[in-house]
Amino acid sequence: MAIHLQIVEHPADVALAAAQHVCAQIRERSDAVLGLATGSTPEATYAELVRNHRAGTLSFARVRSVNLDEYRGLDGLHEQSYRYYMRQHLFDQVDMLPWNALLLDGTAVDGAAECRAYEERIRALGGVDLWMLGIGGNGHIAFNEPGSSRESRTRCVALAPETIADNSRLFAVPAEVPRQAYTAGIATIMEARRILLLATGAHKAAAVAAALHGEVGAHCPASFLRGHADCTFVIDRQAASQLPGV
Ligand code: F6R
Repeated sequence: MAIHLQIVEHPADVALAAAQHVCAQIRERSDAVLGLATGSTPEATYAELVRNHRAGTLSFARVRSVNLDEYRGLDGLHEQSYRYYMRQHLFDQVDMLPWNALLLDGTAVDGAAECRAYEERIRALGGVDLWMLGIGGNGHIAFNEPGSSRESRTRCVALAPETIADNSRLFAVPAEVPRQAYTAGIATIMEARRILLLATGAHKAAAVAAALHGEVGAHCPASFLRGHADCTFVIDRQAASQLPGV
């Protein structure tokens, strides 16, 4: 159950390779259920998918999607919400039908019910065909920070101090940076039929090395992916720079 490793030269090549995986999935099944991530890393991949759509070679008309996470307290109109991000980078740029995109509601009054319903909705979709992930510098996947268990499910979590610090560049004032988020759990993600993790840049090298070669455990949530039957890491040279023999 080794992770497939695809090392490419530059971040732009990661986007090209990742978009190819997504396109292949949609060609295989036009109503594929895609798991999607936000953050800086997949932006170029979404741009590549939009380019394919505009070129007439890719349709999202039947695609369904679920997202990894959402900040607690932000509604979908907030520019830093992940719903806003997804509309900006993908949904509003392609022929995706709005009701086919499932995201956690950051403003849910009953957060626990929202998380339970999310798991049920993913199950009702028949599960995720391909879940695209990024990785945090601390090894997190989605907002499963170090300490998250392999059995974790969709829930509300406290963000790690380093994640809050990373995110603060995106908010006007530090007090606005959310301290909590709703996130799919590690068990939720591991149920996807295929997983694609993207990483670019030297600041991800230690986390990538720990995920692929460190001990498997909650100290590095991405290391749990080694137990998945079909997981591919698509990473650039810099993100691969701490791997033995690279
Ligand atoms: C985003 C998410 C996060 C990011 C990770 C890397 O939906 O779940 O786990 O994938 O924090 O973020 P970037 O790509 O901004 O370095």
